Amino acid sequence: MAYLELNAVSKRYAAAEPSAALDVLNRIDLAIAVGESLAVVGPSGSGKSTLLNLIGALDRPSSGSITLDGEVLERLSEEQLAGIRNRKIGFVFQQHHLLPQCTVLENVLIPTLAVRRRRNARETDVERALALLDRVGLSERRDHRPGRLSGGEMQRVAVVRALINQPKLLLADEPTGSLDQHSAQALGDLLAELNQTESIALMTVTHSMELARRMNKVYRLENGTLTCE
Ligand SMILES: Nc1ncnc2c1ncn2[C@@H]1O[C@H](COP(=O)(O)OP(=O)(O)OP(=O)(O)O)[C@@H](O)[C@H]1O
Ligand SMILES: [Mg+2]
Repeated sequence: MAYLELNAVSKRYAAAEPSAALDVLNRIDLAIAVGESLAVVGPSGSGKSTLLNLIGALDRPSSGSITLDGEVLERLSEEQLAGIRNRKIGFVFQQHHLLPQCTVLENVLIPTLAVRRRRNARETDVERALALLDRVGLSERRDHRPGRLSGGEMQRVAVVRALINQPKLLLADEPTGSLDQHSAQALGDLLAELNQTESIALMTVTHSMELARRMNKVYRLENGTLTCE
């Protein structure tokens, strides 16, 4: 069964002048299962980030339905959506958005602060953070501040932070967009590996065909419609 399903999802951005309203997405259907990966490519302004924001429950569709892990998102309150964002979805953006005053380890643990859990969960979180940092080759940098890391290293920390609450869906918007070719390739390797070993559904928006081709499926978003390449 699909972990994430979109049925006829449309998005219109309203404008002061009704004729100036912008129809960005037009009845998009999409399904993704745990363990699957897909890339969305398309011209700038075609609505890729808009689509990712709807899936990530950061914004609501104008019409249509999104189901995530059996929950119909449009039926949920803002508070319930915030809970889903925190527990079920990991986000990686073009810019890492790490907090400069916190260490690598503290940055990774930030999403765990909002989750109410059993006693001893704290130690488990730290263990998991250290294991993940080890996986991405950064365990020795745990006490460093992000400012001392390279762009590729910071982005790897952002990936670890996205995975700390064990989401089943990882959304990435241009995750390699600010990286040089070597770091971009390393991050692509990491995402592909985590997709398999952590059995997460991975959806990445990218302008890089090199990254896109590493995913199971590549979709193109153009003129409001999504087509499989
Ligand atoms: N909040 C908003 N209000 C009005 N229009 C918006 C809003 N957000 C995005 N848009 C418009 O919707 C269209 C799609 O934007 P979006 O950011 O989704 O494109 P994109 O495919 O991610 O582009 P890029 O590749 O440059 O990141 C653009 O024309 C943009 O100007
Ligand atoms: Mg975008």
